[in-house]
Amino acid sequence: MSDEKIIKSADRVKNHGEVFTPKRVVDLMLDQPEITAKINDLHATFLEPSAGEGAFLTELLKRKLKVAAKQSKTASAFNTNALVALSTLYGIEYLEDNVEMLVMNMMMTFTQTYSRITVDDFKGRVNDHVLKSAQVIIRANMAQGDTLKGITDTGAPIVFSEWQAVNGQPSKVRRMEYTFESILNQSGPTGTVQHSSQQLDLFAGTEDFDDAKQEDDISLPQYALCKWTDIYKQELE
Ligand SMILES: C[S@@+](CC[C@H](N)C(=O)[O-])C[C@H]1O[C@@H](n2cnc3c(N)ncnc32)[C@H](O)[C@@H]1O
Repeated sequence: MSDEKIIKSADRVKNHGEVFTPKRVVDLMLDQPEITAKINDLHATFLEPSAGEGAFLTELLKRKLKVAAKQSKTASAFNTNALVALSTLYGIEYLEDNVEMLVMNMMMTFTQTYSRITVDDFKGRVNDHVLKSAQVIIRANMAQGDTLKGITDTGAPIVFSEWQAVNGQPSKVRRMEYTFESILNQSGPTGTVQHSSQQLDLFAGTEDFDDAKQEDDISLPQYALCKWTDIYKQELE
């Protein structure tokens, strides 16, 4: 990605349609007014259904972190808002080596951009709990799997976490897990996978599909309400 190599091999292009998008095309697409409006909404979610090594997701992350900074008055508020911004970005990628690069690129982008803004703009200190929580969010939101079938390479369903804001408690978050299939089934266009980087209100009307979740055969962990910066502890109820 960084050296703008857009194909790895002819076989991979043939078998998986693997062609990476150059940065200038990513910028052109994300500069579209409808996309910019969603980037400026800190809570709007994005799903990249064929994420590759994260050409779109890493650029979205940089842009969303700038929005998070603008909406923060202090370094402490930015710690929370940076994690809120990160939590809205989701990706699915089929090939294991690409997923590894995707996770690494997201973590590197978050660490560099969060640290630079914290130190330069807020004259603050990089918070280790933020970085550790970011790692948990990225691992949860970047899934290996087949988007069309909704399953991973072991045949298990793809599972995503929703990071729910808590009314009146901006520093708190509730993590809920849903299978990708249940997310797609709960609504029409908002849950439909369309083009790369299309903005999706992934978890619209979640109260309605808490029931759908109950119907799933797999049992998903129930996470305790916690501070955004304590996500890394992954405490259960
Ligand atoms: C055209 S590339 C685009 C990658 C990235 N979006 C970019 O713009 O650089 C398509 C990617 O989708 C992945 N892919 C192909 N079929 C898939 C599927 N059914 N589910 C998830 N990912 C898939 C490929 O491995 C490849 O990395």
